[in-house]
Amino acid sequence: MATNYETHEYDVLVIGAGGAGLRAAIEASAAGVKVGLICKSLLGKAHTVMAEGGMAAAMGNVDDRDNWKIHFADTMRGGQYVNNWRMAELHAKEAPARVHELESWGAVFDRTKDGKILQRNFGGHRYPRLAHVGDRTGLELIRTLQDHGIHQGIAVHMEQTVVSLLKDGDRVVGAFGYDRERGRFRIFKAKAVVLSTGGLGRAYKVTSNSWEGTGDGVSLAYHAGAELLDMEFIQFHPTGMIWPPSVMGILVTEGVRGEGGILKNKEGKRFMFDDIPEPYRPQTSTDPEEGWRYVCGDKNAKRPPELLTRDHVARCIMREVKAGRGSPHGGVFLDIAWIKEKIPNAAEHIKRKLPSMYHQFMQLANLDITKEPMEIGPTTHYAMGGIRVNGDTQATNVPGLFAAGECAAGLHGANRLGGNSLSDLIVFGQRAGEHAAKYAKANPNISVSDAQVEAAYHEAVAPFERPAGSGSEGPYQVQSDLQNMMQELVGIVRQQNEMEKALDGIGKLKERAEKVGVQGHREYNPGWHTALDLKHLLTVSEAITKSAIDRRESRGGHFRDDFPNKDPEAAKYNTVLSKATDGSMKLRREPIPPMPAELKQVIEETKN
Ligand code: FUM
Repeated sequence: MATNYETHEYDVLVIGAGGAGLRAAIEASAAGVKVGLICKSLLGKAHTVMAEGGMAAAMGNVDDRDNWKIHFADTMRGGQYVNNWRMAELHAKEAPARVHELESWGAVFDRTKDGKILQRNFGGHRYPRLAHVGDRTGLELIRTLQDHGIHQGIAVHMEQTVVSLLKDGDRVVGAFGYDRERGRFRIFKAKAVVLSTGGLGRAYKVTSNSWEGTGDGVSLAYHAGAELLDMEFIQFHPTGMIWPPSVMGILVTEGVRGEGGILKNKEGKRFMFDDIPEPYRPQTSTDPEEGWRYVCGDKNAKRPPELLTRDHVARCIMREVKAGRGSPHGGVFLDIAWIKEKIPNAAEHIKRKLPSMYHQFMQLANLDITKEPMEIGPTTHYAMGGIRVNGDTQATNVPGLFAAGECAAGLHGANRLGGNSLSDLIVFGQRAGEHAAKYAKANPNISVSDAQVEAAYHEAVAPFERPAGSGSEGPYQVQSDLQNMMQELVGIVRQQNEMEKALDGIGKLKERAEKVGVQGHREYNPGWHTALDLKHLLTVSEAITKSAIDRRESRGGHFRDDFPNKDPEAAKYNTVLSKATDGSMKLRREPIPPMPAELKQVIEETKN
C-alpha cells in the first residue's frame, strides 16, 4: 500500500452513535466482543436528541386498556399495512422491556401521580403511550445510553466520515474513512458492521434533520450491495418552524398537540374537523370538548383530529395554505396558549411540559407560546424506507452487514407513528448488536485488500484534484440545487411528470457532482465534507424518486396528485432497489409475505 493508514480492528464496528448505534454497541459489548463506535459528530450530539415528544411502549401506565396487541395494530394501520409485520410485532412486544431497561440505567422519566412512568398522547396511538421526559426525551435517551456505554469499554471515534465500506468477497469487513478535524485517513477492520446512521432529510430544502442527515448509511449499504426497501415513503412532519427563515424546518414536537395544542387557519377555524379519514372515524372526535377530555386522560373520550396520523395532518395543512387560508409566512397556526381557558396556571403547565418548545420559540422567534399561537408548516422529518433487513436479526442481504434505526426499513411501512422511532432504536438496536456479535464470533477470519483501500482513498481526495477555478464548481451549489429540486418535485404532493423531471435532474446533478472541486487542504474543510456527502444525497434522492414514480397510488407518506387513492393491489408489495452490475439502480416489486393468522386476528379484534 502506498500510504500508511491508522488501522483499528474490532469484532463489531457500529457506524452511527444515535440511539440505535449506542444500543447496538452496548449489546455487542455485553456479548463479550470488541466494539468500535464511529460518530459523524461528537458523542452525545446525535440527531436522536431532536426526537422530543417521547418513546412509544404499551405499558398501560395511564390507560390500562393498552397492550402490545393494540400497539401492533396501531403501527400496522399507521403504516397502511405495507409494514414488515414481524418487526411491528417484535417492536410492540419488546418496547416496554427496553423502556424499563433504560429506567434501570438511570433515565429520569416524567411520572404519574402513583410513581409510574408517565405516558402521553400522540398521533395514531389509541391510548396515551409515549414515555417521556418533558419534550427532551431523545436527549435523555442518548444521555442514558452514553453513560451506560462508556463504562463498557466501547472504543469511540468521534467526528469521522466513512467514505466506503470494505469488503472481503461478498462480505463486509469494515470501513474506510477519515477524521473530519484533521483529515487523517483510517481503516476500520471488523468481523461485523452495524449501520445506524439515521436519516436523509438533508436531501430536501426544508427539514427537521440536522446536518448529519445526509443518508450516508443507506448509500454506503447500497453501494456495498445491500437492497433498499420502500424508499418512496418519506414523512413530512406537520409541524416545523417556518419563521424566521433561518430556523425553517426545526421540529415543533407533536407533544404540543399531545398536550392540547390545536391547529387553526388564518380565519381562526379549527380546520382539522373538516376531514377525518374512514379508518379513524370511530375514535376521532368532532366535538372540541371531547377532544380536550381525551387530552386530559378521560378514558371514554375520543381523540382530537389534530392527533390523526402525520401524513394526513400535513396534507390538511397544505390544503389550507393552497386555498389561501394559511398564516402570513405560508403555514398555519398551532395554538397551545388556548388551554388557559381550561386549566389554572396554564403558562406554568406549558413551560413544565414543553420547556424546549417554550425556549425555542422565545429565543429563535421572539414569541411566547404561553400567550400566542406558533406559525408552523410541514418539514421533511423521517424516512420510513431504507436498508432492507431481516426483522429478527437486522441482518441485510450482504453477509456481515447489519442495520438498525432510521436507516433500516420495514417497521413503519408507509407512515411512522410519532414516538415509534425512539422505541424502534432501542428495540432493534439491541437486536442488531446481539446478532452482529454472534456473527462476528462465528466468522472470525477476514482480510482487506490494499487495492480497495487505495481506491477509496482516491475517491475521497479526488475533489482536491479539481480545485475551484480550474473549470470545476464548488459543492454547495450542487447540494442546494438538489435540495430545492427534491422539495419542489418529490415533496409532499407528487406527480408523474414532476418526478420524471427530478430523475432527469438527478442525472445531471450526478455529472456535476463528479466534477466538483474544493480548495485548501484536508484539515477543517467543510467544502470537502460537502463534496463527499453529495454521493450519498444523490443516491438516496434517486432511490426516493425512482420508487415514488413506480408506486402509482397514494399511501401514507407518499401522496400523488395524479393517483390520489389507495390501490388495493399496491398494498400487496414492497418496492426493492438494488445496484446492478452495470452500476444502475434496479427496481422490483416484491410481494409482502402473508401475515400469520394470529396477527391477522389481533388486527381484527382490535379494530374498534
Ligand atoms: O414530534 C415529535 O416529538 C417527534 C417525535 C417523533 O418523530 O417520533
